[in-house]
Amino acid sequence: MRTYIKDLRKETGKEVTVFGWVDIRRDHGKLIFLDIRDMSGKVQAVALPNHKEAHEVANRVRPEWVLSVNAKVNKRPEKMVNKDEENGDIELELLSIEVLNEAETPPFDVRGGGSEIGEDVRLKYRYLDLRRPRMQNNIRMRDKIITFFRNYMHEHDFVEIETPILMKGTPEGSREYVVPSRLENGKFYVLPQSPQQFKQLCMVAGFEKYFQIARCMRDEDTRGDRQPEFTQLDFEMSFVKQEDVLSFTEGMFIALIQTLYPSKKITSVPFPRITYKESLAKYGSDKPDLRNNKSNNDELAFVWVVDFPMFEKDDSGKIQAAHHPFCSIKEEDEEKFMKGQDLFSIRANSYDLVLNGYELSSGSIRIHKSDMQQKVFELLNISKEEQQKKFGHMLEAFKFGAPPHGGFAPGIDRTVMLLQNEPNIREVIAFAKTGEGRDLMMGAPSEVSGQQLMELGISLKKDKK
Ligand code: AMO
Repeated sequence: MRTYIKDLRKETGKEVTVFGWVDIRRDHGKLIFLDIRDMSGKVQAVALPNHKEAHEVANRVRPEWVLSVNAKVNKRPEKMVNKDEENGDIELELLSIEVLNEAETPPFDVRGGGSEIGEDVRLKYRYLDLRRPRMQNNIRMRDKIITFFRNYMHEHDFVEIETPILMKGTPEGSREYVVPSRLENGKFYVLPQSPQQFKQLCMVAGFEKYFQIARCMRDEDTRGDRQPEFTQLDFEMSFVKQEDVLSFTEGMFIALIQTLYPSKKITSVPFPRITYKESLAKYGSDKPDLRNNKSNNDELAFVWVVDFPMFEKDDSGKIQAAHHPFCSIKEEDEEKFMKGQDLFSIRANSYDLVLNGYELSSGSIRIHKSDMQQKVFELLNISKEEQQKKFGHMLEAFKFGAPPHGGFAPGIDRTVMLLQNEPNIREVIAFAKTGEGRDLMMGAPSEVSGQQLMELGISLKKDKK
């Protein structure tokens, strides 16, 4: 029977079996100390010369070897108790040690913070990098945050629905990853930038409250708060107004902080609200950092930024949707919208949640009528033919009793990054990619075989021009 290290104290005076890794080994001649680590904690073990076999093995083992040990749990004598150390009041007296696997010397110390070595090496040996206490804690807290969200959603009658990964494009302003079809050479699936269209179609389907811990893929330049694949708490609700989405989300984030990060302080509750225009005028940004002390990571300054413009110009000066083309128009601006006048002053019912200068989430109340949706596409200069080709399914769905609806999609990676006081999202993603979108551990992206290319009907050009 295995005893986890966190439960050892309860077994004081008894014999136990512990599995784990050697964290550190200290040789004091007659006494050999091994710190042993498992998923639940760390404990000091000692090999005494009178347990000859255990002593011999302890002499041989090295950090990161994998062991199964039989040992007696002893209370440490008063003067040996270390109050600052985990399990500092107990010690294992090793009776026998079985080596389950040896380990080569790791390329870096897995007990350090990680900042002392280059990130490329950390990513190449990510399975070792994840052994660091900080990374273990980040990934375990990420799980707690996701579990909190999932439970909160279920408690509020949302249903979790998985939507396709292989799909047709959804325009969210980024380049899409494409996947060639083997059965229909020359045709491609694209990977979702978000489940936007599917979640709206779930509203047409009558689910009313949908959510998903959704993986999203975007072929864009990565940076500290961006990865080519990331996770959203994606949700959508029917028969709601903007106020309903905002107050639901606000309640959820306050409950999250109170439950999992009670020592952090939210700067203002209710979260302040500011329009996009005011935010730009006052702070020169639509992601203002409203902390009283900008270097205090335990201060959480949430702020709602509302009334984003519906349209903007892209780099070449062409009109595009500022958020996405499914946002509804603010009532006050509907006349201008219908007349197609002064397009860049038209505001959408769209909103962002900003935390400490980062955009945590975006969302909007959507269009739920076919003619309104068509009008947006027209103003975006998408021809009737193109509309049918790309979005015919949405225009059609809206004709079959689509309810008014709206939603939101907080980024999980950014949320965990900020709550764990990390400088970038790679620190909270188990198997993160580099800034160039490479997986250095597996070596992706990589070539595929000539056979695979042939099946897909693809031939590669030597020079990409
Ligand atoms: P948007 O594109 O604004 O909205 O994304 C919502 C949130 O997702 C996170 N995010 C990212 N996180 C890490 N890496 C990235 N590359 C990345 N891109 C986005 C951010 C962002 O605020 N479908 C809409 C939502 C809606 O309208 O309901 C959408 O995806 O935290």
